[in-house]
Amino acid sequence: MRIYDVIDDKRNKKALSKEQIDFWIKGVVDGSVADYQSAALLMAIAINGMTDEETFYLTSAMAESGDTVDLSAYGDRTVDKHSSGGVGDSTSFIVIPVMAALGRVCAKMSGRGLGHTGGTLDKLEAIDGVTTAIDEKAFYAQIEKTRLVIAGQTKDVCPADKILYALRDVTATVESIPLIAASIMSKKLAAGAKNIILDVKCGKGAFMHDLKSAEKLARLMVETGRRAGRNVSALITDMDEPLSDYIGNSLEVEGAIEVLKGNTDCPLYKVAKALCVGLLDYEGAEKDVDNAIKSGTALEKFRSMLIAQGAKEDVLDKPLCRAKCKIEIFSEKRGYVKSVDAMKAARVVLALGGGRNKKEDSILPHVGLKFNVRRGDRIEEDGLIATMYFDRYEDVVYAKDVLDAVAFSDKDPGRKDPILKIIK
Ligand code: URA
Repeated sequence: MRIYDVIDDKRNKKALSKEQIDFWIKGVVDGSVADYQSAALLMAIAINGMTDEETFYLTSAMAESGDTVDLSAYGDRTVDKHSSGGVGDSTSFIVIPVMAALGRVCAKMSGRGLGHTGGTLDKLEAIDGVTTAIDEKAFYAQIEKTRLVIAGQTKDVCPADKILYALRDVTATVESIPLIAASIMSKKLAAGAKNIILDVKCGKGAFMHDLKSAEKLARLMVETGRRAGRNVSALITDMDEPLSDYIGNSLEVEGAIEVLKGNTDCPLYKVAKALCVGLLDYEGAEKDVDNAIKSGTALEKFRSMLIAQGAKEDVLDKPLCRAKCKIEIFSEKRGYVKSVDAMKAARVVLALGGGRNKKEDSILPHVGLKFNVRRGDRIEEDGLIATMYFDRYEDVVYAKDVLDAVAFSDKDPGRKDPILKIIK
């Protein structure tokens, strides 16, 4: 077989066989396929697409290109979740502890933030002492002891995805639904859980801007996971507005802890609860999720995970955000809050140093925003809109951009359901 012919077939809109896809992915990892050949094939796929079957072959080949996590000792009780990336989305810190409180086994491998979206690892590492660099032996030992772990992916998991993602990033081939589905699902398959819930974000602050493409991606990922023998379902959730009032690394963990402490009247809990219910998939699951919060069991599970990963015993009992400066931002208008723009808010946090433009960038873990208002809230002139937390005094100038992220209306726009669609 020659990679030239594989590229030629895809350029001529032919469906590739399993053998051709396996040949390509093997060559990507052992170096026998050159980067420029993979780049050409990626572009042909981005333009001509892939059938569901080809997407499944690509996903499986990438999942098997390196190490895989073996959770077979825990049978069907293993769960995992994935979010396609949003703003103020700290649902992992609620879903994982709740599922562990309900007797599930949660071994989650997460990523870092890039661009405007936050990353679970950055958020966890914003907590004093916490590490996400956990070697294989410690990873399995923590699962056995606490039943939950959130760690970084080691370099040996899905190496083909790492190489291809880096190429896609510089060849305008990130935005291809089969390539995104294969990239995400290969990592989920390699992570070993039997039950997987996907949260595909849709809107201004997400990679998918319209419901049609979000649904297409969600359905393809669900179908791909099922072909691989996993129980997979998906939610499509709104990302026009931040999911939580807290945006920024340590602040988002604080927001999740607020929910685990029982402050559940917020969109963050609504989505987190729907993700848990999707994973549990039985009559009465909603009540069990509420009880895991009310009883404090989920909070204690989260504490046990943080302690196992390096935090002190009292980690949940004091504020986590330790930014050097803060400023309260007040409204110049009165009326109803029509919207909080997720993208504008995320750009402020990025400008404050809370995110990365390039993978190598370091971040300021304690900067960010805590909004005091959401869509549908009534606000008077001089009412508190948000508090901005920052480390560099000169960044105070970004306060005006926070105001710009909030739109007002004379009429009550009502609340918006953050759950746009459930795909079973
Ligand atoms: N996230 C991934 O892991 N892969 C993609 O291709 C896009 C988003």
